[in-house]
Parts: sequence; structure tokens; C-alpha cells
Amino acid sequence: MEQHGGSSSQKRHALCIPYPAQGHINPMLKLAKLLHARGFHVTFVNTDYNHRRILRSRGPHALDGLHSFRFETIPDGLPWTDVDAKQDLLKLIDSTINNCLAPFKELILRLNSGSDIPPVSCIVSDASMSFTIDAAEELNIPVVLLWTNSATALILYLHYQKLIEKEIIPLKDSSDLKKHLETEIDWIPSMKRIKLKDFPDFVTTTDPQDPMISFILHVTGRIKRASAIFINTFDNLEHNVLLSLRSLLPQIYSVGPFQILENREIDKNSEIGRLGSNLWEEETESLDWLDTKAEKTVLYVNFGSLTVLTRDQILEFAWGLARSGKEFLWVVRSGIVDGDDSILPAEFLSETENRGLLIRGWCSQEKVLSHPAIGGFLTHCGWNSTLESLFAGVPMICWPFFADQLTNRKFCCDDWGIGIEIGEEVKREKVEAVVKDLMDGEKGMRLREKVVEWRCMAEEASAPPLGSSYVNFETVVNKVLTGHD
Ligand code: UDX
Repeated sequence: MEQHGGSSSQKRHALCIPYPAQGHINPMLKLAKLLHARGFHVTFVNTDYNHRRILRSRGPHALDGLHSFRFETIPDGLPWTDVDAKQDLLKLIDSTINNCLAPFKELILRLNSGSDIPPVSCIVSDASMSFTIDAAEELNIPVVLLWTNSATALILYLHYQKLIEKEIIPLKDSSDLKKHLETEIDWIPSMKRIKLKDFPDFVTTTDPQDPMISFILHVTGRIKRASAIFINTFDNLEHNVLLSLRSLLPQIYSVGPFQILENREIDKNSEIGRLGSNLWEEETESLDWLDTKAEKTVLYVNFGSLTVLTRDQILEFAWGLARSGKEFLWVVRSGIVDGDDSILPAEFLSETENRGLLIRGWCSQEKVLSHPAIGGFLTHCGWNSTLESLFAGVPMICWPFFADQLTNRKFCCDDWGIGIEIGEEVKREKVEAVVKDLMDGEKGMRLREKVVEWRCMAEEASAPPLGSSYVNFETVVNKVLTGHD
């Protein structure tokens, strides 16, 4: 049973609100659990839509919570849909900016009028939900933002305004995109001549009113107002960038990877440890199947929560995997293919029957990646997937889809030495070659050694009493969220 010491008025109460997408909910839930472990009363705020999806995927009592860790919801402002696919990203962005502040403030007032829980004493909000800053300023309580991408992505996003001022974006016309993407930018602090193709997406727009660019400017323009900013990375991995970021945003604190702090501080079998946030129903077959496989022999394939493949791309991946002759576990999320979902041909399925497991749906990725049978990860380079792979000591084949994933690819492959690229255009011959290279080749061995080195550094960063992520987390908890010195 949960222990909750102290009277409700003494306890600190953190209101945690993620951006309503899987890659943002997961790190926020980890952070919320860590705050709860430090004695905070936690209220975790999902959108109505995601709340219903989590209940559907994890069972009707999945979000009952505990006395001191509760779930609440606010509407996202979009029309209700019962479809279990992803929401329209652009509409969601617009809607959260324009519709969420009022219900969020009403929620706080309602929570503060109850007598059985302490009043909200701080807000911990995804940086993309920056309406929360207005609420915090009105209530005169601290707001700590969570940046769920890399530090490199953040420093690049912070310079989009300058790209506009220098007339690099938007493009006047899109006739010479290739040349444009090869443009070297040498004026971003700590970035040595980075090419536009390695920036997070959206630098090829020709639209002066591009909604994604407007969103980036909106978020980066407001981020300075936060009392502190948590970032899910660690000092050694992005040392120089973090130094430069600290001169732009002195209140930034690298506290990642959250997974390590979570593993150390939260008992996975406790009521808090079991709280989960999957928007898709999780299958368990893959772990049993992996148990039958030899060490480091299986390639794990998963493109995260937002990637959408064309019919041609999924077929090229499929035939590349088939031709490699390697064992693979491929998790195919519903909605991953634009249009018809069941397009993997019978010939592919029969040819790979004895060495490939195809799961339709969702798996427990962290468990899969840490299974000894996994020897490589074909990934879209989402930041969570990247950190999870690094933490599991698994090298990657990188095929970014959009946004910060393009930047993550560059750093995984060119700078950190933990990934191989597959090229933007998916070709079965290339897929075959990189899979063999990663699973059997010398290159794969080198990447495997390197990723283990990074994992050790991540562990050191998270270790008490002096690891940088550990110290940073303590600092924000004690000085900002609690107000003690
Ligand atoms: C996107 C961005 O690319 C990412 O960088 C950004 O920070 C958030 O939005 P997404 O496609 O969701 O991310 O990928 P990723 O960041 O890797 O997050 C996916 C999460 O879902 C990971 O925590 C992963 O473990 C989990 N997952 C994915 C599962 O648990 N099971 C699955 O089958 C697939």
C-alpha cells in the first residue's frame, strides 16, 4: 500500500502535463514518478482523448492512480473521434495553443478547492504546452518545462528566427532543394558547420506562414520564461551544446536519460512502477519469442508512434529484411502505412516465417531493447527510441521520418558512432547490406562497442551523489520545485 506522510497542506503538489503524443507522455510519466518518489503529490494531466485510449489499451482501472498520484484530464479542443490512429499533428498543435489554457486553469482551481490534497505548488509542463507558463505566472507558482528532444535539436530550433532573418527560410521556390539542403551553417554556437539537411525538419518550406515554423517560434519564444527547463539528455553526450545552451537559457538542466533514474528509484512492481501510458494495446508474445533466440541475433524494427510509410517503403523494408537472412522482430503499428494496412505480401511472410516475428500493434519497447537476443535496432530515430537504444547498448540503423529525427540521425551516425544510415530513399539492396553490416560486420562490432561506452557514461551521469544528471535533478527539485536552498 502507498505511504503518504505529512498533512496534505505541507506536501508539495506537482501538476505534470505532457504534450498529448506518445513520445512526450512517456518521458513525462517517468519524471512524474521520480517526483512522487521525492515526496511530491502528483497530478498527471492527459487529454480526454488520450485518457480514453490509455484505458482502452491498458484496462479500465489503469489510471485509477493512488491517493498521492492521480490522473486528471482536460479536453484538447478537437472534435471527439473514436479512431485509434494518431491525431492530426497540425490541428492538435493549433488546438492546444488556443483551447487548453482555460480548462487547465479551471482544473487547478478545482484541485485547489479540495481539502484532501495539497494545493498545486508547481507546474511541470512539456515545453510544447507553453500555455502553462501563463497559468503559472497568474498563480505565482514555479513552472518547470520538460524538453523531450535532444539539446542539439533545441539549440537549432532556437535559431530558426535567425534563419528567417538571414532569409535562409522560407525558400523563395523549391526548384533546387538538394542544393539548399547542402547549405552549411557556421554561426550556431557549438555547431561546427552543420548542413541544413541535418536540422530538424521544416527548413524546406516555401510558405511564409508555415504552421510548424510558427509553432517552433511560439515555443522557443516562450521557453525563457520558465523557472527551469529539464532536458532528457546527459552532459557527456551533448557537452558543448549544453554549454552553449546554458548561455542562452541559464535555467536549463540535463537530467537524462530518465530511464536510468527511474530504474534506480522506482520499484517496477510497485503500484507507481506499474503505472503506464501506452496509447496502443501492448502485446507480450515478442518477449517469449525472443527468449528462444541466441544472444544479439535479432534485429528489432520499430518506427515509433508517428511515422507513416508509403506502400513502396514498407515493401522495400520487408524485402530488404528478407534478403538479409537475419532474424528480426518487426512491430507494425496500426496506421503506419498510408492507406491499406495489411499489405505485407504472403510471399514475404512465408519466406521469413521461421526467422521473423511480425507483431501488429505495440510492444514494450524498453523491455524488448533490453532483451539479450536483440543485436540491432532499425529505427526512425525518435529521441526516446535513441536514448532507449543507447541505454540498452544496442546499435542502430537510422531511418529518420521527420522533425528532430533528422538531427538525431546525423549525431548517431557521424558524431556518436552508434548508428548506420540507410539513406532517405529506401531500397531493398541497401536495407539488406546495412542489416548484414550491423548484425555481422566489423562496422556493427565497432558501433556495439561504442554504444556500450555511451551507456556507461549515461549510468555515471545518473549515479548519486555526483553524476551530473543526478545533481541537476536534485538541484531543480530542491531549489525550484520546493523552494529550499
Ligand atoms: C516523436 C519524435 O521523433 C521524438 O524525437 C519527439 O521527442 C517526440 O515525437 P515518436 O515517433 O513518438 O516521437 O518516437 P520516440 O521519441 O522514439 O517515442 C516513442 C516511444 O514509444 C518510446 O518511448 C518507445 O519506447 C515507445 N514505444 C514505441 C513502445 O513502447 N512500443 C512500441 O511498439 C513503439
